[in-house]
Amino acid sequence: MPFVCILSTCKRAVLGQLLSLNVPTIQWLCHESQLLCFSSVLFESQGDVKCFFFFSSFLPADIISTVEFNYSGELLATGDKGGRVVIFQREQESKNRPHSRGEYNVYSTFQSHEPEFDYLKSLEIEEKINKIRWLPQQNAAHFLLSTNDKTIKLWKISERDKRAEGYNLKDEDGRLRDPFRITSLRVPVLMPMDLMVEASPRRIFANAHTYHINSISVNSDHETYLSADDLRINLWHLEITDRSFNIVDIKPANMEELTEVITAAECHPHQCNVFVYSSSKGTIRLCDMRAAALCDRHTKFFEEPEDPSSRSFFSEIISSISDVKFSHSGRYMMTRDYLSVKVWDLNMENRPVETYQVHEYLRSKLCSLYENDCIFDKFECCWNGSDGAIMTGSYNNFFRMFDRNSRRDITLEASRESSKPRAMLKPRKVCTGGKRKKDEISVDSLDFNKKILHTAWHPKENVIAVAATNNLYIFQDKIN
Ligand SMILES: *[C@@H]1O[C@H](CO)[C@@H](O)[C@H](O)[C@H]1NC(C)=O
Ligand SMILES: *[C@@H]1O[C@H](CO)[C@@H](O)[C@H](O)[C@H]1NC(C)=O
Repeated sequence: MPFVCILSTCKRAVLGQLLSLNVPTIQWLCHESQLLCFSSVLFESQGDVKCFFFFSSFLPADIISTVEFNYSGELLATGDKGGRVVIFQREQESKNRPHSRGEYNVYSTFQSHEPEFDYLKSLEIEEKINKIRWLPQQNAAHFLLSTNDKTIKLWKISERDKRAEGYNLKDEDGRLRDPFRITSLRVPVLMPMDLMVEASPRRIFANAHTYHINSISVNSDHETYLSADDLRINLWHLEITDRSFNIVDIKPANMEELTEVITAAECHPHQCNVFVYSSSKGTIRLCDMRAAALCDRHTKFFEEPEDPSSRSFFSEIISSISDVKFSHSGRYMMTRDYLSVKVWDLNMENRPVETYQVHEYLRSKLCSLYENDCIFDKFECCWNGSDGAIMTGSYNNFFRMFDRNSRRDITLEASRESSKPRAMLKPRKVCTGGKRKKDEISVDSLDFNKKILHTAWHPKENVIAVAATNNLYIFQDKIN
């Protein structure tokens, strides 16, 4: 799977301002500010800043916390720790710029969530975007759901390229006209203007989660969606904000009896009555809403018996599932735990049909990963468009891809050094004991601060988006 880099990183904090500046100013800004650095930036000076972005910011608020393609892959949304959403749009093919196909440019950026304070509990509510989910497009506008720990918002993103002019009672700049000077009536007309992309909050779904929301998932009926926190799952109607139905509640009467929490949940891609949720004990429950309104009793229970020989102090922590995703076909699901990715057939509950080791070499390092809290990192995983390959992240800005048919796997690195625009990504190898070969990196020199938790795969093509802390990389299959 050869991949080339087509766009590296996005600005973030200052992007809104950057887009309105001209090129010399940007260069000045980048040199003067310690917050930004850039290299190999290619500009198109047609008013807009386009082409390869290579900005990166070192602000903690800029850490990317979620990445999600829309259903056709033309749009890509990212959310960050600072509560912002940035949407990228894929460049259309053009005759005079034959290589432009595939480049994603910033389309819209807006503040989705603000920091809040819960006065009753004396708790700060972070603005960090935990998840973004697109709704299928139904008219000219785009809709997406974004959530932080507590509140889900439905955003409408729409374009405007016309403006009404020739009002009777006010000037073009909005000032009221002197009524005595109005001698004739005008008919207002629509005039073309520069394209503007506006994001407006359409619905706010609040006050339904006591614990932190970890997942949202749009149902295949396109009318409802679910939201999951540590102990409960709620079902919402997209039009109704003041109530939701509690469909799973695992909160014990006595909190001291709590032994597991919900870690992720997702709706089945085709059957709107079916959903799954995973737990911190490494199990997955499939529920059918037709069987009962409250799905505390699951329909299927997926669990792999533990191998007693590999049992250790860390067994329970590393078996916790950080992500669950149905395949596009709806026949399989994939789960990510700390060291592996597993593919389950929905018709087989007692073991996964495939298991892929992501970074087995860390098994001997679990003690230090526990001490530096890395063992609690929540890695996500994703399928490619035809379910033939899967991808998930690792440390040192490495990410892994597994081809399900050939059982081949590859480790790639998302870093500025290794991914110049249009450069081929070289497979990386981690040396596990023995003599280290040239090009190999030893387990001890891996950087655990550089982790790839969030990745997304274009639904139709070999284009992937990889979030490496505060940088976004988009790679695509090398054509010709
Ligand atoms: C995804 O976004 C593109 C670009 O605006 C749009 O043309 C397409 O219809 C969207 N796809 C879906 C299925 O929502
Ligand atoms: C998904 O991966 C498989 C295996 O590598 C490949 O054959 C297939 O073309 C890929 N599908 C898409 C839509 O990229």
